[in-house]
Amino acid sequence: MAKGKFITFEGGEGTGKSTQLKLLAAYLEQLGVSAIQTKEPGGTDLGQELRKMLVTGDKDKMDAVAEALLYYADRRIHLTKKVWPAIDEGKWVLSDRFADSSVAYQYYGYDKRVPFETLENLYNLAVGDFKPDLTILLDLDPKIGLARSMEKAGHMAVKETRHESREFEFHQRLRDGYLEMAKREPQRFVVINADQPIENLHQKIVAVVTERFNLSSCPK
Ligand code: TMP
Repeated sequence: MAKGKFITFEGGEGTGKSTQLKLLAAYLEQLGVSAIQTKEPGGTDLGQELRKMLVTGDKDKMDAVAEALLYYADRRIHLTKKVWPAIDEGKWVLSDRFADSSVAYQYYGYDKRVPFETLENLYNLAVGDFKPDLTILLDLDPKIGLARSMEKAGHMAVKETRHESREFEFHQRLRDGYLEMAKREPQRFVVINADQPIENLHQKIVAVVTERFNLSSCPK
């Protein structure tokens, strides 16, 4: 059986990744492509426990190194228990964030950053030579993204706003970092302006995915 594809969605806070991921999964299902929706951190039951530690509470309760280790623990569990088995079964896996988030947040975002080589070593250990087939980077001015994200958090019982509460420059740096990463790997990344209506953005993503994977020839 042909292996499935691995598509990741990346971007800062409030860029609309999870909405777009859901819409793409529904579109793929219509075409007869079996797609699962997942996320990091927290794509597994055990990962949910790590997620709670990582995204709630005081922003300074741990530093970037501790975060990188926990995000990578979550990633390893996610890959071995969910992503790789699904891909082996021919399913397409759509993930809301993956390893690029660690580079954007734990390297580009912080003043006291994790060295880039350390993140590369963690990648080699936990992920090996596996990579996303496509990474959709939703690019948005963090002023707009943070406002959206805080508005959403207002309706949540448990506030997942640990990173949102960091200074504005942190979010600006990680946005610039993402754009740099996309420039370095143009064959894997597609950058899409996220400052547009949900349906327009969805249509752009559909166009990218259709072209990249030759989807018109997919069986219904
Ligand atoms: P989410 O709320 O967009 O799902 O993401 C959880 C938070 O964790 C978000 O603020 C980004 C952050 N994050 C990192 O800092 N490093 C990582 O490796 C991942 C996957 C997420």
